[in-house]
Amino acid sequence: MASINTTDKIPNNVNLANDRTLQRALEHWQPHFIDWWQHLGPSDFQTADVYLRTATSVDADGWASYGAVQMPNYRWGIFLADPVADRRIGFGDNMGQPAWQQVPGEFRSTLRRLIVTQGDTEPASVEQQRLLGHTCPSLYDLRNLFQVNVEEGRHLWAMVYLLHAYFGRDGREEAEELLARHSGDADKPRILTTFNEPISDWLSFYCFTYFTDRDGKYQLKSFAESAFDPLSRTCRFMLTEEAHHMFVGETGIGRVVKRTLEVMKELGTDDPAKIRAAGAVDLPLLQKYLNFWCSSSLDLFGSEVSSNSAANFANGLKGRPDESQYEDHVLRAAHFKLQTPKGVEDVPMLNALNEVMRESYLKDCEIGLKRWNRAIERAGHAFRLALPSPHFRRSIGAWVDAPVTPEGKVIPREEFEKRRYEWIPAEADRAFVRSLMQRVVAPGRMAGWVAPPERGINNLPVDYEYVRLS
Ligand SMILES: [Fe+2]
Ligand SMILES: [Fe+2]
Repeated sequence: MASINTTDKIPNNVNLANDRTLQRALEHWQPHFIDWWQHLGPSDFQTADVYLRTATSVDADGWASYGAVQMPNYRWGIFLADPVADRRIGFGDNMGQPAWQQVPGEFRSTLRRLIVTQGDTEPASVEQQRLLGHTCPSLYDLRNLFQVNVEEGRHLWAMVYLLHAYFGRDGREEAEELLARHSGDADKPRILTTFNEPISDWLSFYCFTYFTDRDGKYQLKSFAESAFDPLSRTCRFMLTEEAHHMFVGETGIGRVVKRTLEVMKELGTDDPAKIRAAGAVDLPLLQKYLNFWCSSSLDLFGSEVSSNSAANFANGLKGRPDESQYEDHVLRAAHFKLQTPKGVEDVPMLNALNEVMRESYLKDCEIGLKRWNRAIERAGHAFRLALPSPHFRRSIGAWVDAPVTPEGKVIPREEFEKRRYEWIPAEADRAFVRSLMQRVVAPGRMAGWVAPPERGINNLPVDYEYVRLS
């Protein structure tokens, strides 16, 4: 079984000790990573004891061991899911051939670019969230934030391992660049726009982990299908960690809804002004945050029609999430009916794979909505939360800047401009949410805008001291 060697400087299940050159190169990168973490990781909590889970092996019962750790001492390691014997390429023009254990020369630069783009999002999100600890609604939430942060750090390790192990000198240079770009930096920003916006309130954090980490899930799922086997194995293990990030988002928004419903009941009203005066998030305001984060995460899938994604699929670099659920894995003869502002267009399926992925992502996003709406319905209210139309507020692709309502209706541009802040947070909305963000750090206490979780972490009580502040 693939258990790790914990006496190594870098915990790993890839036999690093047998490859001295690679081990030395990664040990050289390690202090740069720690330095980055100290300067751009969570601000101010580096000496706190945090109750964190650490991966100690990739099998079902060993991958999550819990204990109090100071974050800079977290054991970031390199873990690949166990190999599948005689794994074959599952899609594209090379379907059925053996998966690659090395990078084929002709795909070297494309694969490197894909790995770098994925890798760049991991430290970016840590940077975006670095100030959130100061306004945590509870110790339970603070711990979850830091758990997400250290795991995004580990995901960076996962991508840096691939760059060092399979891409030679170029890979080592890219690994340095991953620490040199910074979220929001004027000269050296992160690669994708969404990852350059600061996340300065916890409602945004819950939305980010619900929508944007879920984009991460779909990217990882499509890489898990890759013909490049080390990438596939790396991403398969990352997915087990990613699930917790979306749990934080789904339960976080669920707790906001629960608290709002309690306040509505206490006050006997659904008047947003009264709910806000009582220090809770009214449901229409929550809807604006969902509209904002869902639409910006949809852009991460890229343009509806893309020759890059066609080539990546045909060449076996990147599959569809859950490729095995489809019947046709080659797609040379398939077509896709694409909705554009000009009407329905018939495009080759291979070119529409970003859209295919976006559709399955949106289906996955519905799960939380159903749960939150059930709570609203049980409380006897007619209001329902909804995902915005995928044509709403898009900044790339066929629907770029189209004046479309969250319900998907095309309206005159002036009307769209006039009504924009009925649909996404206006500055006054954001200021109100910021005003709610007061730090609560007594064990078991919660800020007034969010209900306590149903259970604690790893069977511990909710009032456990998940972070011991020093
Ligand atoms: Fe990640
Ligand atoms: Fe994540």
